[in-house]
Amino acid sequence: VCYDAQYIMITSLTKNVAHDRANKAFVDTFGAAPAAILRAPGRVNLIGEHTDYNDGFVLPCAIDRDTFVAIGPAHNGRITAVAADFDGEIDSFEMGSAIEHSPKIWANYVRGIAKHLNMAGCPLVPVNMAIAGDVPLGSGLSSSASLEIAVGLALAQQAGFSLDPNTLAQIAQASENQFVGCACGIMDQLISARGIDGHALLIDCRSLECTPIIMPAGVSIIIAHSGVHHSNVDGEYNDRRNQCEAAARHYNVKALRDLDLITLEAENAGLDDVIYRRARHVVTENDRTLQAGIALQNGDLKMIGRLMQESHMSMRDDFGITIAHTDRLADIMARALNGQGGARQTGGGFGGCVIAIAQDGDVTKVIDAIAMQYRTPDNMPADVFVCKASAGAG
Ligand code: GLA
Repeated sequence: VCYDAQYIMITSLTKNVAHDRANKAFVDTFGAAPAAILRAPGRVNLIGEHTDYNDGFVLPCAIDRDTFVAIGPAHNGRITAVAADFDGEIDSFEMGSAIEHSPKIWANYVRGIAKHLNMAGCPLVPVNMAIAGDVPLGSGLSSSASLEIAVGLALAQQAGFSLDPNTLAQIAQASENQFVGCACGIMDQLISARGIDGHALLIDCRSLECTPIIMPAGVSIIIAHSGVHHSNVDGEYNDRRNQCEAAARHYNVKALRDLDLITLEAENAGLDDVIYRRARHVVTENDRTLQAGIALQNGDLKMIGRLMQESHMSMRDDFGITIAHTDRLADIMARALNGQGGARQTGGGFGGCVIAIAQDGDVTKVIDAIAMQYRTPDNMPADVFVCKASAGAG
């Protein structure tokens, strides 16, 4: 069965469908054409997990799946948003008063970004918007960051306010941290805002310096969904961040980025074993990410495969964020690759997607292995798609 050919068709179809769904929802709800449609992509992280909020290194690329925001001026003094993917639910709020939380979860991403844009000096103007996307939700592919960046870009554009992508990403992160309530790092928002077509970005999350690394020719990114959905707003994500901060305090460093393996082991007396293992994941993952950047540049799939496998094991044994289903999926994908590339859980953890980097010629082999050997908790085959490193928001 040639799943990848089927996927390529589906992708180009969903792409137009998501864009057109945003456009249609705008016209149907507000009775006029939108002034603009803006988009921001989801992302896949090749390696460097839970390192961003430790001031460390990550290696993500933006993917060809986006959130689209159709936007135009409103004449009622309010910001109103319709969510085409949530049964056309509508959220509307006043700009003047302090923006409050909504009981609708998706609406808080819109309200939060409006509030934080305004706090950063962007005037808010009354607008209507319609939102639709094709980034799978709750999959570790950053549907929420793509929503934040697309809405932020759209609101700023309508207000005639120019924002550089780093500032937009920082505003989106602040909104997620302070308004939505997830203590996420900067990776997802930054790659959604700054992704480069055909490239991964090696990001130094302390300086925000981004080094583009071209994806080697003839190499594919395969994403397989475990069928287990997760949310970063759940307590586990914030727990990991607190544990990392506790470890940094123990070692007396600003962030775990500043710790090396020798000091980690030499000065662990009195440190709780769980906290020690959380720190060991971050220290070793930073190192793996830097090595993976070099391996990707050299097109060294064997090395990338080894690093991805070690990363998955470190997330499983030290950081405690994989689950039986993603362990199994990663194992099936890695075995199909037989050392020529690798597989690992990607994103915040506790489910979501497993990603593989493989030679184009091996893609069908991996997809077939998943189809034959993996079932989701609902006993369904996994959704699998082959994606392309894509451009950031625009
Ligand atoms: C989520 C967060 C990111 C990052 C990853 C884990 O995607 O939003 O900031 O911490 O988890 O690497």
